[in-house]
Amino acid sequence: MKRVWWKEAVVYQIYPRSFMDSNGDGVGDLRGIISKLDYLKELGIDAVWLSPCYKSPNDDNGYDISDYRDIMDEFGTLDDFKELLSGMHERGIKLVMDLVVNHSSDEHKWFIESRSSKDNPKRDYYIWRDGKDGKAPNNWTSCFGGSAWEYDKETDQYYLHLFTKKQPDLNWENETLRKEVYDMMKYWFDMGIDGFRMDVVSMYSKVPGLPDGKVYGSETDCAIGAEHFTNGPRIHEFMKEINKEVLSKYKDVMTVGEASGVTIEEAKKYANSDGSELSMVFHFEHMGVDAGEGGKWDIKKWKLTDLKKILSKWETELEGKAWNSIYLSNHDQPRMVSRFGSEKFREESSKMLFTMLLTMQGTPYIYQGEEIGMTNVHFPSIDDYRDVEVKNMWKEYVGNRGYKPEDFMKAVHYIARDNNRTPIQWDDSENAGFTTGTPWIGVNPNYKEINVKNALADKNSIFYYVKELIKLRHENPIAVYGDFKEYMEDSESLYVYERNFEGKTMLVILNFTGEEQNFELSEKFKDMNSKLYISNYDNTDKFENNTLRPYEAIVYIYE
Ligand code: GLC
Ligand code: CA
Repeated sequence: MKRVWWKEAVVYQIYPRSFMDSNGDGVGDLRGIISKLDYLKELGIDAVWLSPCYKSPNDDNGYDISDYRDIMDEFGTLDDFKELLSGMHERGIKLVMDLVVNHSSDEHKWFIESRSSKDNPKRDYYIWRDGKDGKAPNNWTSCFGGSAWEYDKETDQYYLHLFTKKQPDLNWENETLRKEVYDMMKYWFDMGIDGFRMDVVSMYSKVPGLPDGKVYGSETDCAIGAEHFTNGPRIHEFMKEINKEVLSKYKDVMTVGEASGVTIEEAKKYANSDGSELSMVFHFEHMGVDAGEGGKWDIKKWKLTDLKKILSKWETELEGKAWNSIYLSNHDQPRMVSRFGSEKFREESSKMLFTMLLTMQGTPYIYQGEEIGMTNVHFPSIDDYRDVEVKNMWKEYVGNRGYKPEDFMKAVHYIARDNNRTPIQWDDSENAGFTTGTPWIGVNPNYKEINVKNALADKNSIFYYVKELIKLRHENPIAVYGDFKEYMEDSESLYVYERNFEGKTMLVILNFTGEEQNFELSEKFKDMNSKLYISNYDNTDKFENNTLRPYEAIVYIYE
């Protein structure tokens, strides 16, 4: 397997709006990030994925871009950006930007022109169609609910928006548009960035003719038509073109495609080891373990066997063929400890989850705040939430479908994206040290206990455990390149796997429950020479009595 930096890297995601505010307006910004670069260096991460910081009217917090070549006013200036980039490079940290080109903002100059008349040269940069019998051109629905089409009186046609109506889809069939995108990518690479995370990359290519989608539940469900707009017919052609026109012209850059609906077979193409498309993709399969029949907002209890089956499958089936990525949360998901661990055993279970994250083969991604074990927020009212998705869903479920507000709030407290968007808790001062003004979204009230200052002052904190795991991953290629073999597949309590590389074996034992569990090493391991790699409890005597403590994680290396 070819060794490259982005396979060995640990990536840290920054959501700028919520990271650090430098000027008291309540919104995180680039100078805020600059002020915390030494903190990132201390943690030891290799690269930062920065969520969008381009000009945007912020209908979807920067995922609606009105100028791809400039910085959002609230976040700072292009000079601030350049300073941030060099500040990272000086500390040996790479910068991966977010590339949002499935759609732009409706306030982008391309769209303003496109919408102005049917024969405008930019008309075809977006997807315009005539209505059908006075209704939308097809039955596709937006990923945030409601029709994916918006009628525009000006020219008596509809435009497609797979997200909000302020996020019109770009038309990837148009070659001139594609060229504009490639030029823009080069603009940032020429400035010195190290890669792109590609937003909803699997939706660029739509099936010609835009046929109606299959209706499973109700006509108002999200993403009806997905089979016609995910991993569409020309998607790999587009990826290869991006690779040829842009990526191949720069040395050692990385790309990670956000690919909802991607299967293993598809991922083998996107992230093929031959380097013809992207470096890797984010798949979504494990993010669906707790979705009921009604989808994301219909929450069911997840089962460890389901989670393991998915993660193990991706580890083994991509092995040697394509590169994987590992994540348990990001700005679109809730806090990992609240979802996959336990708030009651916050320290132990956070450490256990990090042990898993950093001992699997794919590139691990850490979302900001996870390194101090931040938790979901339980805001009392829907008015405390800011995200366009949760607001739309509230209207849909409570408004249209008659859900009881308190029932829907349960789902919000569990799965809403704002759980992960509350400000980073830097210390125990007002607003958790995030801002001297009024934060754009409330701070989690548990900041007096859970904050960076406390974490840095405690040698046993989650922070230092993660730091150690990162260091170990850098020193032990087995953690990156080892193969993967699972034990005890049927256990609903333990996740046990081994990795093998250059004659060594790494054994990872994870207790996913808040109870003690029996565990006995098989004879094979008893006979081998072992060295403790890491453990989230102080002493491992108990394990020698064949007992694992709540959320205990132990990793051994055998030679
Ligand atoms: C991606 C982003 C998400 C955004 C959506 C539309 O899924 O991660 O935050 O809302 O795309 O751009
Ligand atoms: Ca600010």
